Amino acid sequence: MADKKYTVAVIGSGGREHAIVKAIKKSPLIKEIYVLPGNGGIARDAYTVNVSATDKEGVCEFCKGHGVDYALVIPDDPLVLGMVDALNAVGIPCFGPDSKAAIIEGSKCFSKDFMKKYGIPTALYESFDKEEDAVAYIKKVDSYPMVIKADGLALGKGVIIAQSRDEAIEAVKSMMSDKKFGESGSRIVIEEFMTGPEVTVLSFTDGNVVVPMISSMDHKRAHDNDEGLNTGGMGTVAPNPYYTQTLADICMEKIFIPTIEGLKKEGRTFRGCLYFGLMLTPKGPRVVEYNCRFGDPETQVVLPLLESDLFEIMLATTNGTLADLDVRFSNKSACCVIYATKGYPEKYGKGFPITLPEYGPDCEIFVAGAKQDENGNLVSNGGRVLGITAVADTLRGAIDKAYDLTKKVSFDEGFYRNDIGARALEALK
Ligand code: AMP
Ligand code: GLY
Repeated sequence: MADKKYTVAVIGSGGREHAIVKAIKKSPLIKEIYVLPGNGGIARDAYTVNVSATDKEGVCEFCKGHGVDYALVIPDDPLVLGMVDALNAVGIPCFGPDSKAAIIEGSKCFSKDFMKKYGIPTALYESFDKEEDAVAYIKKVDSYPMVIKADGLALGKGVIIAQSRDEAIEAVKSMMSDKKFGESGSRIVIEEFMTGPEVTVLSFTDGNVVVPMISSMDHKRAHDNDEGLNTGGMGTVAPNPYYTQTLADICMEKIFIPTIEGLKKEGRTFRGCLYFGLMLTPKGPRVVEYNCRFGDPETQVVLPLLESDLFEIMLATTNGTLADLDVRFSNKSACCVIYATKGYPEKYGKGFPITLPEYGPDCEIFVAGAKQDENGNLVSNGGRVLGITAVADTLRGAIDKAYDLTKKVSFDEGFYRNDIGARALEALK
């Protein structure tokens, strides 16, 4: 076992996947890395293979045919669709939960009912599968803002914060009868609006123990000062200064352990990375959402601070040996600035040229929506294109270094927020 080297398939194609590939490449346990489908930046670090991340048959066939002995299933949709189940069925062990455990992200109704059953703190809610019942409830509660969520996966867009009765009723209609998010909106959750700083805590778990990673802070709105539409995330910093050791202890006792144990009791043992989206409300930490995977772009700041061997930890989540490992993070800080295509998260073009500068050992440029053209040059191919990351002794230092590097990138049709980390610096004052 100690000498075994692994041929690995990484399923996914974003900046998060690029950060994971760069991290596992450092492990002495790795022989070969294939990424399905990957992107033009990942292609500079691993073999990319043109098979879609949700094509269960194609992924299994490729992995069997290429001697893959461990697969990392990273994005939400293949996890919820049962990619891990399919790979396991053909004898390939995986990093990531099976579909029974991935439901924690795949269904908001499931996750809310689960939290209620196990006493895990979250916003008060009701779920509905009939539009008239939802509308009657809105009129009865009549308190705004009110939060309306589609049950299923909706590319991070299935949450509407309604400021009035009309907006709330319109949101319910757009999800339930206009099917704005397809079948994801055939059931909905309506919940209480919470306030307070948000924190992401990614964690490793083998179903028995849970090991939180360093905390982080996402910036979800498209533009400075949290203006504009919600996006997949426009930048991150780690650690999150709002998340003190006292809060971490409370979260471990009231949220992390009860979640892992509850899932096990439900016959849905979770192995992989469990994402806790938390809000630090005046009444204490509450779960905003669970994700069954690494966050993007949280991963781009968390992994550069991980000092232990990521690949060894991943294997331990699958083998149930996580308790034996020492998972260490550095006490530095990291900042990631997302360079997106103008127009994102709505309409944007593709095929714009990008030139990356040289950079030093404390920086990384993770590539997401970009491909290589016929001459091997990088061109944009998506909304979020690059994640420009820097590590430094202080948060201020990491932010400055990340922006210095961002300014050296040439991407004329791109834009980025100028205030990633500004709120985190406020908290440190
Ligand atoms: P979600 O996809 O559930 O993470 O929701 C997306 C974003 O909507 C979160 O990151 C929060 O900023 C916001 N949000 C979700 N639920 C609530 C809530 N109950 N109260 C306040 N804000 C919320
Ligand atoms: N950055 C938020 C997410 O990955 O869901």
